[in-house]
Amino acid sequence: MDTLKSINLLTRQAYNLAAQKYHELFHNEMYKKEYDRKLLDSFAARFHKDSLICDAGCGPSAHIGRYLFEKGINIVGVDISEKCIELAQQYNPEMKFECADISNMSFDNNTFDGLISYYSLINTPKIYVQRFFTEFHRVLKPKGYLLVVAKAGTTEGYNDDLLGIKAKNYFTLFSVEEIVDYFKEANFTLEFIEKRNPYDFEISSERIFAIGKKVLK
Ligand SMILES: C[S@@+](CC[C@H](N)C(=O)[O-])C[C@H]1O[C@@H](n2cnc3c(N)ncnc32)[C@H](O)[C@@H]1O
Repeated sequence: MDTLKSINLLTRQAYNLAAQKYHELFHNEMYKKEYDRKLLDSFAARFHKDSLICDAGCGPSAHIGRYLFEKGINIVGVDISEKCIELAQQYNPEMKFECADISNMSFDNNTFDGLISYYSLINTPKIYVQRFFTEFHRVLKPKGYLLVVAKAGTTEGYNDDLLGIKAKNYFTLFSVEEIVDYFKEANFTLEFIEKRNPYDFEISSERIFAIGKKVLK
């Protein structure tokens, strides 16, 4: 297996190339996804207007963070692709962004009230995923909430294409059991986990939604 550093480099290069197209395809998708909106509404209900949430792997639109920002919650979007961050900042000038690897962020311990990883573990080989949960735990305040969204399945491996653009990248699908174990291993109590079917306009894999609360070791 390649190192996480080399995988992250592929991810960064791929999303730098595909950022504009990703934005065009997905920036408005929340309006079509009632399940996701309700889930984000229930996640938002755990916070107040002074809360700070990290949208980890926010992509070029940062539309998940934006959905919460429009409810009055402070958001910091983080992404490894500088093109994603450039576009996210351009489309959301009132929000804050940082270009970084979400498995190794520069934020202090206990910085955030909440953290969202919306399809941002999708480019990480399973052998490295626990590191991301450990980092999410570190930057969250005690009793902070983690929302993870992933595509369901059993496969992982390299692709040569991202949204029709030639760009080598890694792609990982997860089982509910794996997601449960990542939360548990990183000291989160799982409050919610559910699978939904794909909408007919989505790629045809089921989606996993999970919310956990940080407990101390
Ligand atoms: C499938 S997109 C999801 C974007 C957005 N969260 C959404 O739901 O539309 C995955 C995003 O995660 C980012 N990403 C993947 N691995 C990352 C890492 N190690 N550090 C920071 N960002 C990462 C990618 O650059 C990309 O923007």
